[in-house]
Amino acid sequence: NKKITIAIDGFSSTGKSTLAKQLANHLGYAYVDTGAMYRAVTFFTMQNGYINADSFDKETLINSLPSIKLQLKFNPDLGFAEMYLNDVNVEKEIRTIEVSNFVSKVAEISEVRAKLVEQQKEMGKNKGIVMDGRDIGTVVFPDAELKIFMTAGADTRAQRRFDELQEKGDSVAYEEVLKNVEERDYIDTHRKDSPLVMAEDAIEIDNSYLTREEQFKVVLELVKEVI
Ligand code: C5P
Repeated sequence: NKKITIAIDGFSSTGKSTLAKQLANHLGYAYVDTGAMYRAVTFFTMQNGYINADSFDKETLINSLPSIKLQLKFNPDLGFAEMYLNDVNVEKEIRTIEVSNFVSKVAEISEVRAKLVEQQKEMGKNKGIVMDGRDIGTVVFPDAELKIFMTAGADTRAQRRFDELQEKGDSVAYEEVLKNVEERDYIDTHRKDSPLVMAEDAIEIDNSYLTREEQFKVVLELVKEVI
């Protein structure tokens, strides 16, 4: 079997990372969650006070980019990689609703994208990788052998994200989660640099009514056709 690159893109909370992890484990591939990288840069921006509800000092963030070191380190106990920001594990910190509320604003900045895309290309240069995000099939790996574009209704997605946050003990109203999902989708699809759009050669999967297992089966068939 040849090693391929699998690009998974789509709207927020469509279950991209669940599918990507399943695929990577099954195929023995590396998995890269690019959303975690944008979230880590956002967490850095918040920590340093460059962004808050009233203002965003983009210039200072851009100037600080060289001092941001991002690493994904595989945790064998968990079975997936965790995000490290300047050698500190920030896996928990980057999943909060506060980070979700700012991340799309940070991800609009071309200089941020250029830095992360370069690192992502480097991580995937030997293939055998599943990467999920918003621009993987269009910008990071336009030559990926398999491109999946995931969709699901906004309600379904907000409910999933809400359940996830509840499970972690993060008390937040369902309406706030729905608003965040809709806002991020809007910004992600309307930004100038690398907007979220389905690649021409991507295969769309609407998983509103698919279980994880059904979805995994469908995609595994697609993988088999390519490798
Ligand atoms: O995938 P996740 O929901 O964690 O991504 C968080 C945010 O990061 C997205 O809403 C988007 O603004 C940004 N992002 C991006 N490009 C990627 C991955 C994520 O702009 N490849």
